[in-house]
Amino acid sequence: MKNKVHPLTNEPTMKFHIRTYGCQMNELDSEVMAGMLMRRGWSETASEEEADVLIFNTCSVRDLAERKVLGKIGKLERLKKRPLVGIAGCMASSKKEALFQKVACLDFIVGTNNIHELDAILDEALERRKVCHASPQFTCELDYEGARRKDGVKASVSIIRGCNKFCTYCVVPYTRGREVSRAPEAVLEECKTLASRGYKEVMLLGQNVNSYGKDGPGESCSFATLLGRLNEIDGLERIRFMTSHPVDISEELMSAIGELSKVVEYVHFPLQAGSNRILRKMNRGYTVEEYLEKVQKLRSLVPDVAIGTDIIVGFPGETEEEFGQTYALIEKIGFSNSYLFAYSPRKGTPSTRWADDVPKEAKEARLQKLIDLQNRITTEHLEGLVGKEVEVLAEEVSEKDSRCLKGRTRTWYNVVFPGMAKELGTLKRIVVEKVIRQTLFGLVV
Ligand code: 5AD
Ligand code: SF4
Repeated sequence: MKNKVHPLTNEPTMKFHIRTYGCQMNELDSEVMAGMLMRRGWSETASEEEADVLIFNTCSVRDLAERKVLGKIGKLERLKKRPLVGIAGCMASSKKEALFQKVACLDFIVGTNNIHELDAILDEALERRKVCHASPQFTCELDYEGARRKDGVKASVSIIRGCNKFCTYCVVPYTRGREVSRAPEAVLEECKTLASRGYKEVMLLGQNVNSYGKDGPGESCSFATLLGRLNEIDGLERIRFMTSHPVDISEELMSAIGELSKVVEYVHFPLQAGSNRILRKMNRGYTVEEYLEKVQKLRSLVPDVAIGTDIIVGFPGETEEEFGQTYALIEKIGFSNSYLFAYSPRKGTPSTRWADDVPKEAKEARLQKLIDLQNRITTEHLEGLVGKEVEVLAEEVSEKDSRCLKGRTRTWYNVVFPGMAKELGTLKRIVVEKVIRQTLFGLVV
């Protein structure tokens, strides 16, 4: 490890690299951590090999994600000049000190609720190594303003952390703790600052944004009210959010989505399963009929709304017939996109009381059937847009053709169109010409 001293801070100047797995909240947490390390005078490197400090910001939602990270870190043991190695994220929170036994070369552990302590953790790690901070509950506002954001057009903004839902398969309530909403003033301030720095789109993040404000003491600001206030910010063009739990989506919120000009017509609305028996076993808190009712209401209040979803196949005891109900429901609703997962038992979650009895091959076959179905539905939606005009935010230069820009429709579809880098951050009207591999191609009107 290099131990040169930074001229201003008198600290060793180190190169760091953060590898992020999992959800958008993890991406944002990595941006916050990178900002903290840069304020220490450390510099970011894109190369893992060059790094003096390596942080793995991990995900525990599925077993495969965990095994991949452990395998990767294990390999670092063979290096002659070993970097300082840390694990952050959900694995840090769920496995805590036990991780030191699993990976000998691990030096520090930063739980999802301990990011604000990163500096102190590193100070300790630099001195004596093996330090673990992993608290069950999020308590401290992070320095979001100091986050090192890579994208200049859109930014993620955390509005609520944790989850109170306890779906029987999910680790999140155990790794991130109970729901904690951020003060509306703090969210507003951050979004105003982002807009003044030229950001055009914010993605409001939370495991369940629809319960925003319900945890605070006294008078609360609902999610719909928060959206209304954010909609007033000058310079901001688009407001996205995820995830919306079906139990907590209110009519007030649906109307807000329909009425507020900057709030896009896209709702990420996880269904998880199409059978009432499985939904009950998952502790989702709604029936298929109730879910359908909310979809109908949403479609009546927000014309042209696109609805995305998450589905788990092969939950314990899921029969072919029950899987068939999920398949039929996806077809009936016509989601614009789906994130599809095979059930993976997570230690400490209630669903492990049932045997993981759907064979691996059956899970894979069910998953493949849903992938094929969703591809067909998405392609149909996209082909329906050919010849029509859509609004696109120019977000980045296309990697494949530097004379083209890439962006998304309000409904989250990818669009490629001719344009120059100086047009990034502007809204374009695009006439869709064709669809190739689920991307729309078009021309500026
Ligand atoms: N197995 C498979 N998928 C899971 N998800 C959460 N926990 C599990 C699990 N144990 C999926 C859900 C959730 C998404 C983020 O990940 O569909 O909505
Ligand atoms: Fe996990 Fe359910 Fe909470 Fe989503 S709502 S984070 S699936 S417990």
